Amino acid sequence: MGKLTLLSLLTASVAVIPMFAETVHVSTPKSSLILDAVKGEPLKFVYYGSALGDNDIKNITSTGGNTFNAYPVYGLWPEKEAAMSAVHADGNMTLDMAVADVKTMKEANGAEVTTVTMTDKVYPFYIDVNYRTYPGSDVIETWTVTSHDEKKPVKLTRFMSGYLPIRRSDVHVSQLYGSWANEGKVEEAPLPHNLKVIKNKDGARNSHTSHAEVMMSLDGKAQEQTGRVIGAALCYGGNYKLMFDTDDSDYHHFFAGINEENSSYNLKKGEKFETPALALTYSEEGLGGASRNFHKWGRDYRLANGDKLRKVLLNSWEGVYFDINEAGMTQMMKDIADMGGELFVMDDGWFGVKYPRNNDSTSLGDWTVDTTKLPHGIKGLCNTADGLGIKFGIWIEPEMTNSKSELYEKHPEYIVKAPNRDAVEGRGGTQLVLDLANPKVQDLVFNVVDTLMTNYPEIDYIKWDSNAPIMNHGSQYQTADNQSHLYIDYHKGLEKTLQRIREKYPDLTIQACASGGGRANWGILPYFDEFWVSDNTDALQRIYMQWGTSYFFPAIAMASHISASPNHQTNRIVPLKYRTDVAMSGRLGMEIQPKNMTDEEKEQTRKAIADYKKIRPIVQQGDIYRLLSPYDHKGAASLMYVSPDKKDAVYYWWKTEQFVNQQLPRVTMAGLDPDKLYTVTELNRVDNEPLPYEGKTFTGRFLMSNGLEMPLSHNVDWNKRNDYASRVLMLHSN
Ligand code: DGJ
Repeated sequence: MGKLTLLSLLTASVAVIPMFAETVHVSTPKSSLILDAVKGEPLKFVYYGSALGDNDIKNITSTGGNTFNAYPVYGLWPEKEAAMSAVHADGNMTLDMAVADVKTMKEANGAEVTTVTMTDKVYPFYIDVNYRTYPGSDVIETWTVTSHDEKKPVKLTRFMSGYLPIRRSDVHVSQLYGSWANEGKVEEAPLPHNLKVIKNKDGARNSHTSHAEVMMSLDGKAQEQTGRVIGAALCYGGNYKLMFDTDDSDYHHFFAGINEENSSYNLKKGEKFETPALALTYSEEGLGGASRNFHKWGRDYRLANGDKLRKVLLNSWEGVYFDINEAGMTQMMKDIADMGGELFVMDDGWFGVKYPRNNDSTSLGDWTVDTTKLPHGIKGLCNTADGLGIKFGIWIEPEMTNSKSELYEKHPEYIVKAPNRDAVEGRGGTQLVLDLANPKVQDLVFNVVDTLMTNYPEIDYIKWDSNAPIMNHGSQYQTADNQSHLYIDYHKGLEKTLQRIREKYPDLTIQACASGGGRANWGILPYFDEFWVSDNTDALQRIYMQWGTSYFFPAIAMASHISASPNHQTNRIVPLKYRTDVAMSGRLGMEIQPKNMTDEEKEQTRKAIADYKKIRPIVQQGDIYRLLSPYDHKGAASLMYVSPDKKDAVYYWWKTEQFVNQQLPRVTMAGLDPDKLYTVTELNRVDNEPLPYEGKTFTGRFLMSNGLEMPLSHNVDWNKRNDYASRVLMLHSN
């Protein structure tokens, strides 16, 4: 990887090897990316697809097809879309880049980075195009670093992370879209002519609406287990733009990067502008293969603590909302401990002295405990948790303040606000965003976490929320000519702060929450252990949301909670069994008032938590196989996780519709070892009789070619019948 090359100048294990090569081969176990890097010429993209050997690499340029500049720039032949455009210090709006050097270096975690340095033919303007690969991963990250030695700042007006020409055939793009409480919906469509743009302009968070990830199925309609797929994930927490430009030629032109709109960047001499990584993966095992590649790469190299199992928790939000008090917290902690949970998270409402946080209109920024609600403070709660043998976690929203807060009274200059205008206020009519471009604000945000952790080192988990977009374009910190830096510098500041936090507190579990699923992105996840998929906890709708989200993100990162019935968002009445069976397909937690649960429900949950602990390594570290899509509207949905050694699997089946005389498809399994014998055990059983195949063994071959019939309803007493059915089966082989 990152290793060449026909000229074979690379010797392993040397940290930085200056080399020059004509053909650059960036390789992963199952994929190759080939570039032509001739000194003095533009860098050419030659190939991205299945792994190639020397012979095919040698002959690839004779196979026909166009070659394109690997990182197209604007100015000469300007009618095409470009990955980068800039205005030089003297006003010249053109770039003309040529290869100057190719280097490969090894990083501490075994990753290899190949860097192609390009210089402008006339101006002292430089772009490094980088490609990173990791041992055992089929993902290639690409990004650029731009700098110059011109006398005055150069204005960057477009700065994509990467570009990829996609050969036309019948390319279908799958993307996620949605809104608050309706995140992660899947849409698939063939690529149209002209421009297809997927973008975000929220400023602070970026995945409620469109997502910064796509799957490109190259062979027509997307299939789960078969077909060539290129997956692309822009690893960036801020405004993004993904573009497919399709002209009347043989190619689609794909670009992905920071959204340049209203964000031109004045780059000073010697300063470096680094774009976020665009993660690419190629699979011949359909969407599922591409997802598994992203999940493995994410767990192994990107997600915070991706190798550690997550605790089963109870979060207080839907149980008590702002009604925080010591007795209530203690009762919830006792209940979750009693059901076998491992962690309790106190959500919003615990802070504020001058302005107590009783609703969403005050106090953000005043992170001092409200001792009228919690007389023994956080320490008291930590002690209670400790006594119960569970861990304690806490909610904060450190990037924000309210106009009704002590922080804002002291530091009105800290907020994002357009000059000469009143601040625009958000949630609760008073919420304001702190300007993270300002180093003082960065310190302040760091200190929110640092103070909590210094005072209460027992804190095991932080839910980091972010409930407002950037609501007016203006920085009180930036100079007048750098107002367009607002969005980019906000995220630079956020990242810097998160890096500091992670350096000091690597083991702290931190959840990225942003009014639900606003921060499901690989740019933010190196600093977070997981994200809150949605504020919508309705089990039926979660099947759709978690299905889509799993295209790019692994179950270990997807917080999935059992909540009340009727559900607080949809008012749907869903039995506990079904709510549990859905929540158990992600990082299981609870978001409910346990004191409203019956003893029978508590017992059911106690068993479910105990069983989840058994399957947790398979769910959280295994490979996903999506089997029957809820979007196909066949009346059911199904997926499974298989352990890497294929000894264990967990199979989920959820009925999504209820009609009399339904004919549901029998679902064939996937990902198993055909020759292994798997014993079937049903989890969360509510039926009076076990399933006919309970305790029986079947070969992986049979399960993958035939599957098991799922009864349409549960065999329970009449008074317990309802319109839901679901199954969780554990498969174990020796
Ligand atoms: C929005 C989050 O998405 C919720 O889960 C909850 O934490 C509230 N904020 C608290 O205000």
